[in-house]
Amino acid sequence: MLKDKTILIGISAGIAAYKICELVRMYKRAGAKVRVMMTPNSLHLVTKLTLESLSQNEVFVENFDIKEYKPEHISLCDEADIMVLAPATANTISKIANGICDNLLTSTVCAFNKPIIIAPAMNTNMWNNKFVQENLQKLADNNYHICNPECGFLACGTEGVGRLCELDTIYNKTVEILNENKKLAGKKIVISAGGTVEKIDPVRYISNFSSGKMGVALADAAYQMGAEVTLVSTFEAKKPYKVTKLQSAIEMEKEISQYNNNVDCIIMAAAVADYRVKDYSEQKMKKTSDDEIEIKLVKNPDILKKISAESNTTKIVGFCAESENLLENAKIKIKNKGCDYLIANDISRKDIGFSSDENEVYILDNNCNIEHFEKDSKINIAHKILEKIFE
Ligand code: CTP
Repeated sequence: MLKDKTILIGISAGIAAYKICELVRMYKRAGAKVRVMMTPNSLHLVTKLTLESLSQNEVFVENFDIKEYKPEHISLCDEADIMVLAPATANTISKIANGICDNLLTSTVCAFNKPIIIAPAMNTNMWNNKFVQENLQKLADNNYHICNPECGFLACGTEGVGRLCELDTIYNKTVEILNENKKLAGKKIVISAGGTVEKIDPVRYISNFSSGKMGVALADAAYQMGAEVTLVSTFEAKKPYKVTKLQSAIEMEKEISQYNNNVDCIIMAAAVADYRVKDYSEQKMKKTSDDEIEIKLVKNPDILKKISAESNTTKIVGFCAESENLLENAKIKIKNKGCDYLIANDISRKDIGFSSDENEVYILDNNCNIEHFEKDSKINIAHKILEKIFE
């Protein structure tokens, strides 16, 4: 996603500086070239050597680190496609908003005429400070992209707003800005993810090993491509798009059905349990003297089949998890389900599928034409699936 892009990260002296090591790795994994510059005080919190090792590039701190004729703050400006300031302290935010250039980082921001992301992180009282807020507003009003801090436990021992937002948020914002491929702008897409939870009693349930990663990758990719995304998920996910959390197949059927014929596409990536417990016990079931007990299961609705039958305008896409005879079973399944596309993956392979960050899939259309997407990261596979569905 970030191949051939150069990202310039600016680190100022917030304790969250250590988290940026992982952000560098995320960008590198996506194929980006990463350059890092740090304010002198941030060196107290994370070392230059750490960031040089992770970015595989020289890290700049001072205005006078000049080795060639071209000053760094100009040459790095030329080279980078985007600048990401994380963490951005109250001090750095306020200096930038007032055109102050007293170190390499602030000088570079002043000269940078491409997109800039700012991810503030600071103590809650500093965050609430009127002047800090005014300065940040000034930046927001001038097309700086702000990734607001979140509420949580802070390094100063208090709880409140000021914690650096999730790295995923900064990463997704970067991809969103750099990805001119907004092919899905104006499209509404609903994606289900995760294994459903079928309760036995208030403390026990039946579920499956689905991690939901493929569904989330599809939702992230659709969002990056400009779609209006809703993720219907069996687990919590902090995302820049709408996420509805639920548990059971019955709840998922109700939620998903309301979008049918109201959105452009529904992708059922969730691992929906085929059966649920017949008699849910309101009270915790007690152990009995019997060595065996029986729990009766009843069939869950087949959501994919139902929405495919009822859809007039919405493209319906299903998944097909098989541990043997992948393509034969997939061809039978797409006919049986009646959906427009089916994505088939082999869950018997340890290197792809469940819980893995990679996948290898076949995509079938309703004429049983098959296309193969070779093993790749789930996010790249997700992009290829969406390109195919909306080609
Ligand atoms: N699915 C669904 N409702 C169900 C079961 C499955 O909507 N009650 C959807 C899944 O979200 C997936 C597709 O159907 O998109 C195929 O799921 P899969 O588990 O591969 O197949 P099943 O229909 O459950 O059939 P089987 O378990 O016999 O392979």
